[in-house]
Amino acid sequence: MANKQFDVVVIGGGPGGYIAAIRAAQLGFNVACIDEWKNGKGGPAPGGTCTNVGCIPSKALLQSSEHFEQAGHHFVDHGIKVEGLGLDIDKMLARKDQVVKQNNDGILYLFKKNKISFFHGRGSFVKTDAAGYEIKVAGAAEESISGKHIIVATGSNARALPGTPFDEENILSNDGALRIGAVPKKLGLIGSGVIGLEMGSVWRRLGAEVTVLEALPTFLGAVDEQIAKEAKKAFDKQKLKIELGVKVGEIKSSKKGVSVAWTNAKGEAQTLEVDKLIVSIGRVPNTIGLNAEAVGLKLDERGAINVDDDCKTNLPNVWAIGDVVRGPMLAHKAEEEGVAVAERIAGQHGHVNFNTVPWVIYTSPEIAWVGQTEQQLKAAGRAYKAGTFPFLANGRARALGDTTGMVKFLADAATDEILGVHIVGPQASELISEAVVAMEFKASAEDIARICHAHPSLSEATKEAALAVDKRTLNF
Ligand code: FAD
Ligand code: NAI
Repeated sequence: MANKQFDVVVIGGGPGGYIAAIRAAQLGFNVACIDEWKNGKGGPAPGGTCTNVGCIPSKALLQSSEHFEQAGHHFVDHGIKVEGLGLDIDKMLARKDQVVKQNNDGILYLFKKNKISFFHGRGSFVKTDAAGYEIKVAGAAEESISGKHIIVATGSNARALPGTPFDEENILSNDGALRIGAVPKKLGLIGSGVIGLEMGSVWRRLGAEVTVLEALPTFLGAVDEQIAKEAKKAFDKQKLKIELGVKVGEIKSSKKGVSVAWTNAKGEAQTLEVDKLIVSIGRVPNTIGLNAEAVGLKLDERGAINVDDDCKTNLPNVWAIGDVVRGPMLAHKAEEEGVAVAERIAGQHGHVNFNTVPWVIYTSPEIAWVGQTEQQLKAAGRAYKAGTFPFLANGRARALGDTTGMVKFLADAATDEILGVHIVGPQASELISEAVVAMEFKASAEDIARICHAHPSLSEATKEAALAVDKRTLNF
């Protein structure tokens, strides 16, 4: 019997894959999406790393733990007395699981709404066939389907330290880090990148003594230096202990916990004894089980699928997007690539502007940026002007009781075009959108400075930082 044939088959149902499938269906294609993620009952759980063990559950726990910290330490500043404050970690984790499930169910609904055929199982290449490519789906049953166009969106997996595999009991990846059943007394993290800071913050707020060991001598090296320094000051104040320039040695795990031998920046030997260890040292592209060799799909030296700027692979009509290809491993980058590829398949001119992909670290204070940092502009020899405005001088931030941080603008010295915006402080994740829009429209700092911003709002700090580029802040 002939295989079921589709115009577009998407392998992977994370933010890259499911969004690509929806956009392709909107454009009139007959679309299939294959995803193998299973929920606790073995059923489908589309949404990928982002929905199941990434963006969504981490933000749920960041929110819950922030409430706990506020109630325990900051409500009192507002004249609110809290007595008998307690923690029901089972309930907190169950709420997080419920948030994940709502997202899984939402995606299944969207598949139905858009008439996308969903297959639960692992998709792998078999061969090219008359219709395009034959893809085997290994799920509860095994079946074969064919697609004229294939979009590979198989995501990424946590990188383990050599010789220290994840057991998700003591040595945790992002997966185990999001379901520790009791607050550890002592928690260690390897890597003070995005996951290290977000997960370290969650468990510190809930009462763990947290130590983060980072190999690089610089804190958040990719972040604008001034912003990273301000963030580090805040984390130091919170007693989130971050050791820079370390070399991690032998790691021993036993029933009692984990012992990490490490050398500090001065070269002195140290030992860290913790109940649990989260390893967050980056992620590796995932092509396990894809059987890329069967059709000659090329990978690069990092194991990522080789693509050009348009997400085209070396094979005709095979595309790849998201974490499994070059570029930042971010859900919104994966989504944008998914939309652009679906549009390219339809003969349209889908486009992703890598210069305006925002980054957000959801700690407290939040850190968000778009465009270039001051150190990048210096290295490129570009003449620029900088303007900063502290939240300390913003009325809304004072009313919120959260005046940490600043907004910083970098603009071209001659044309005033905005080259980068960097924020550390309250609601930075929301504030950064204005900067992204401005940069997409090639706005100048003066454009933002001349726009009316609501009062009192945190966004006034953005306007003031834009005014600061021309040295004419009004409130500082
Ligand atoms: P994925 O989300 O990894 O999805 C890939 C899917 O494909 C998975 O469901 C997988 O099971 C499936 N799959 C793989 N191989 C096959 C196969 N052969 N057959 C069938 N299915 C297959 N990014 C942000 O932008 N904001 C955040 O706040 C954020 N927080 C994060 C927090 C954590 C703890 C982590 C780990 C990541 C976070 N990220 C965040 C990154 C984000 O999760 C990824 O960039 C994003 O999920 C990538 O999307 P994707 O579609 O490329 O891949
Ligand atoms: P990361 O790349 O952000 O940070 C890894 C850190 O580990 C780096 O600082 C690196 O120097 C350090 N490191 C590497 N090897 C080490 C070693 N042997 N010893 C000590 N330190 C070492 O990676 P992370 O935190 O694992 O997150 C993976 C990716 O997931 C992120 O880069 C990001 O793309 C995505 N993510 C995004 C989030 C967001 O957008 N808010 C949240 C969480 C993850």
